Amino acid sequence: MNTHLDTDRIVRTFVEYYEDRGHRSITGSTLLPPPGDPVLFTTSGMHPLTPYLEGRPHPLGRRLVNVQRCLRTTDLDEVGDRTHLTVFEMLGTWSLGDYEGPQSLDWGYGLLTEGFGIDPRLLHATVFGGDERTGPDTASLEVWQQHGVPVELTCEDNWWSNGPTGPCGPDSEIFLWTGDTPPESTPTGDDRWVEVGNHVMMRHRRLDDGSLVSLPQRNIDTGHGLERLASLLQGRRSVFECDVFGPWRRLVPPLWELDEPSLRLVCDHLRSAVVVIGDGVRPSSTGRGYVLRRLVRRVLTVLRRDEPGRTLADLPQELVRHTLDRFRQDEDPELVRRTLLDEERRFGRLLERGRQVLARPRFRGPLGEEDFHYLHDTHGLPRDLVLHLRPGVS
Ligand code: ALA
Repeated sequence: MNTHLDTDRIVRTFVEYYEDRGHRSITGSTLLPPPGDPVLFTTSGMHPLTPYLEGRPHPLGRRLVNVQRCLRTTDLDEVGDRTHLTVFEMLGTWSLGDYEGPQSLDWGYGLLTEGFGIDPRLLHATVFGGDERTGPDTASLEVWQQHGVPVELTCEDNWWSNGPTGPCGPDSEIFLWTGDTPPESTPTGDDRWVEVGNHVMMRHRRLDDGSLVSLPQRNIDTGHGLERLASLLQGRRSVFECDVFGPWRRLVPPLWELDEPSLRLVCDHLRSAVVVIGDGVRPSSTGRGYVLRRLVRRVLTVLRRDEPGRTLADLPQELVRHTLDRFRQDEDPELVRRTLLDEERRFGRLLERGRQVLARPRFRGPLGEEDFHYLHDTHGLPRDLVLHLRPGVS
């Protein structure tokens, strides 16, 4: 592996590789989808490009490449494992009704093996095996067979969509072996196979009634999670050990002594909170602001479990600046810090009120649904906060 490949170099290699193959580089959007979009945050590189996948001509043509920041709350419970982050960057390419799946997979294979120097014997692919509506993706299967890459066929795992309705299609995912032994088993059978890239043959649209219709053009949408790719190329065991987390690993442990899972959660959530604030979101009780609030409160809960006096006032400004720079955001680091501290104070007041209310005789025993509703509606105490103050009540 190319241990000297830092994240910036990976991005450059990726973008140049696709520019050499006729793609135009476009600037990624913020985490906020355009008004009217039903989804709170951008969850994938294709998200801001939806109108172009649906047929609107893109001003820069039919072949695009970019780096897009994404936020996924679906993976929140997995944060802390080796491969998941709440906010991450995605390397993406698109064929808007231009070349087809086999060409995309062929380039994807070349990027990993020639561009990044990955040993082809460590790769495994998965391909859509067909279901009652759509036949198997034999074209992708053939490409992998030609390259001598083993293939596993699946159904649901190889169908990609950005939500219940909208553009979707069969996909082919590429996995890299991360075990200490020679590769064995298959991606669904052994989690030492880690997904490094996904090519979606995006040519369908799912309607409200669940049926599929053809999009006006046959597109390709690819994505590679940057931090995950970086950690693998740098020979690290987890995303938290790749170069972008270097400053976090250096500055957080001396400040707060945490076990490894807590350290990962604190770094992930604080970094995500900084990026979300950097894109203009402020904590609130609904929508995006509530996601931000939950991130900050979860950090505070973990930090204070061992030492109640811990405060975000100690968070080094260098980490805020480093994160804003990484995501090319020009928000004032001081404003980010004030936003975090305001939220910390609000949480502190709420906890205080919660403790007082929960000390009342009525709430000493087990709590029922009615109690949770009352605590929420009358005292503004959300269920997760009540559970935090009274662990084990429900
Ligand atoms: N949109 C595809 C994904 O996010 C490439 O995996």
